[in-house]
Amino acid sequence: MIKCIDVSDLRVGMYIHDLNCDWMSHPFLLKRFLVSDEAQIHKIRDSGIHEVYIDTKKGMDMAHAPTVTEVKKKLEREIIEFAQQEAPEERQVEASEEFGRAQLIHNEANLIIKGILQDVRLGKQVQLEQVEPSVERMTSSILRNGGALLSLCRIKDKDDYTFQHSVSVGALMVSFCKAMGMSKEVIHHAGIGGMLHDIGKMKVPDTILNKPGKLTEQEFAVMKCHVVESKRILLSTSGISDTAVKVAAQHHERHDGSGYPEGLKGEEISQLGQMAAIVDVYDALTSDRCYHKGMPPTDALRKIFEWSKFHFNPSLVQAFMRCIGIYPVGTLVRLESGRLGVVIEQNDNNLVSPKVKVFFSSKSNTYIPPEIVDLSRGVGAGGGDKIVKHEQPEKWRLDPLRFL
Ligand SMILES: [Fe+2]
Ligand SMILES: [Fe+2]
Repeated sequence: MIKCIDVSDLRVGMYIHDLNCDWMSHPFLLKRFLVSDEAQIHKIRDSGIHEVYIDTKKGMDMAHAPTVTEVKKKLEREIIEFAQQEAPEERQVEASEEFGRAQLIHNEANLIIKGILQDVRLGKQVQLEQVEPSVERMTSSILRNGGALLSLCRIKDKDDYTFQHSVSVGALMVSFCKAMGMSKEVIHHAGIGGMLHDIGKMKVPDTILNKPGKLTEQEFAVMKCHVVESKRILLSTSGISDTAVKVAAQHHERHDGSGYPEGLKGEEISQLGQMAAIVDVYDALTSDRCYHKGMPPTDALRKIFEWSKFHFNPSLVQAFMRCIGIYPVGTLVRLESGRLGVVIEQNDNNLVSPKVKVFFSSKSNTYIPPEIVDLSRGVGAGGGDKIVKHEQPEKWRLDPLRFL
């Protein structure tokens, strides 16, 4: 059985099933292992991990610890509870209408950031005037409809990960700031900061940056330096704002002080820095990398919600979920009727009942004529169905984004 325990209850002889933290931020080569000495327990604690999952079939048990299913159910209940009270933001056009424009804007942003990052690798200065118009266009697209651009941001090539991740973090920051009711100016600078947050990675050797497996402890230490490098590069960029620098400089800080480079705690981290941390982890978790498959957005959000006890500001995590939805646009979901469909729009006042375009029957395992179902409505009013769960598109060999 898989159980969740506090790190203070961890003993030699227990078998770690999951370190319960994002894999970018810990130096353990193995995901699953038997705890064989006290030193390992110290190392886990020192990495800022507070709770772990143990496999009681492969190692020592802990009698009263909750099982993974119990933890998952509890988290889902909590998420659904607040999701039903909160209204997502308004939008100007439908996602389907924005999709074409968003595609052009997304492509352009990728080319621009690729050029800038490659320049930095060659030792050139960052030309801010190249990034600004692109952030402006992304902002306009998100103001028209956030779901369109954000669903595109989830598609990444393994080779261009760093560039595409930069664009995603920029777009997510814009969206998040907008949902938080921040001013146009702050949104703009936060978007720039998001686009350039990992610029310091260009100073990390390629062999480490694109290593197709887990990093060793030394490599991990080199990788961590990218934050200080980002800050240094941005501080020497003419026209850059404090806001943008903060986003980049604080995106790896954690609420409980376990982050880097400064180990800042709670309110010592600026609000935008706290937001950048959430956005950065969300994008990394949902992206495919050469050594792991990206999680569906709903799973990534549940994980971030779980970690918000320690690593993130819980009220900001909730605000982020309101901003992108529990089932973000582009998510493949299974309905009670057995139909599969893609989320095309969030619904006001109820994040668990979005609009879904159904196109596949899980019962007959065949495509069905596409139809839009509004889950906030009853039978006979274009609704009358309910999400059972989200699905991995690969499992069904479906491409939900094709139906947006
Ligand atoms: Fe980073
Ligand atoms: Fe990042």
